[in-house]
Amino acid sequence: MSALFQTFTLKSVTLRNRIVVTPMCQYSSIDGVANEWHYSHYASLARGGAGLVVVEATAVSPEGRITPGCAGLWNDEQAQALLPIVQSIKSAGAIAGIQLGHAGRKASANRPWEGDDHIAVDDAAGWETLSASAIALGGGLPKVPKAISTSEIERVKADFVAAAIRARDAGFEWLELHFAHGYLAMGFLSAHSNQRTDQYGGSFENRSRFIIETLGAIREVWPDNLPLVVRLGVIEYDGRDEETLLESIELAKTLKTMGVDLLDVSMGFSTPTPDVPWATPAFLAPVAQRFRDETGLPVTASWGIDTPELAEQAIEQGQLDLVSLGRAMLSNPHWPYHAARKLGVDKASWTLPAQYAHWLERYAVGA
Ligand SMILES: Cc1cc2nc3c(=O)[nH]c(=O)nc-3n(C[C@H](O)[C@H](O)[C@H](O)COP(=O)(O)O)c2cc1C
Repeated sequence: MSALFQTFTLKSVTLRNRIVVTPMCQYSSIDGVANEWHYSHYASLARGGAGLVVVEATAVSPEGRITPGCAGLWNDEQAQALLPIVQSIKSAGAIAGIQLGHAGRKASANRPWEGDDHIAVDDAAGWETLSASAIALGGGLPKVPKAISTSEIERVKADFVAAAIRARDAGFEWLELHFAHGYLAMGFLSAHSNQRTDQYGGSFENRSRFIIETLGAIREVWPDNLPLVVRLGVIEYDGRDEETLLESIELAKTLKTMGVDLLDVSMGFSTPTPDVPWATPAFLAPVAQRFRDETGLPVTASWGIDTPELAEQAIEQGQLDLVSLGRAMLSNPHWPYHAARKLGVDKASWTLPAQYAHWLERYAVGA
């Protein structure tokens, strides 16, 4: 039996296999409200056989969106629009998850296919951004953010909590907090972007405070029986990686004691030109394994895990508990079915609904 196609149980949730559709922004919402695009997108991914589909980074407040097209969950209309999407994922046999985030200094940007850069300062479509300190990321994102005040920190934490409640009530069974990729939480954690002199800056303990307080507040409202996951930027590829990794391992241990159930191991992206080993397949899998070994938390990771063999190997060798796939799933939402065939899973068609499986089994289509 393939390791990739074993079930995985966390709290009261069981995934039918170890394949996760990683959160991927669609930049296609209007005022943060999902629409037909999101419905067909998520329904097709769930139908393709993944165990878990995590809905894209969903902003907890308007200024927390990366682009004007990003999804949001700061009002009831947005929550309502997610209901059919949750149902479509569940009815296809997958678990429905959602990622909540705040884009910090990377907010107020153009959609990737419209430039991927900051909206011009004099363009009314843009907005003031918030970050730990008034330091721009640079590169295509030159806008200088406002250093967030302590009262605004309280407001953003409350926004996270309100969004988590809406996600819970919409029927999501898996919550991932976006504490990576240079967005607001990561902006606090990284000394590249945090030069505060108050209790939220300076020492690692202080730079972790926003994450710990936000997590603690969400833990109060997110059901104990459902998985709570953190996507953490644990490495910057900035030449001081061991130091960052050691700090991140300490933080992950703290998060575990606070009730985090799984870690999505990712990058910090706190500098404009990190030296990421893009050419190495599955380059984060060994990093994730280190977190798994040293914290005892189950882990997932993505980035360049795109073949059945790589995915199988990462699970089988104990590097990852779950494999997160992004672009491979966009390219082929039925990736799990093809992976099952490639890995010799008996009756690969079980990854698909009967409406498809019956015909593929009968005529061995796509062998
Ligand atoms: C279209 C697109 C949108 C993305 N949006 C998000 C997001 O909403 N949240 C997030 O944490 N990562 C996001 N990412 C990063 C992915 O989750 C993933 O880490 C990345 O694509 C690497 O995995 P892959 O090599 O399998 O594509 C996005 C990636 C893509 C391609």
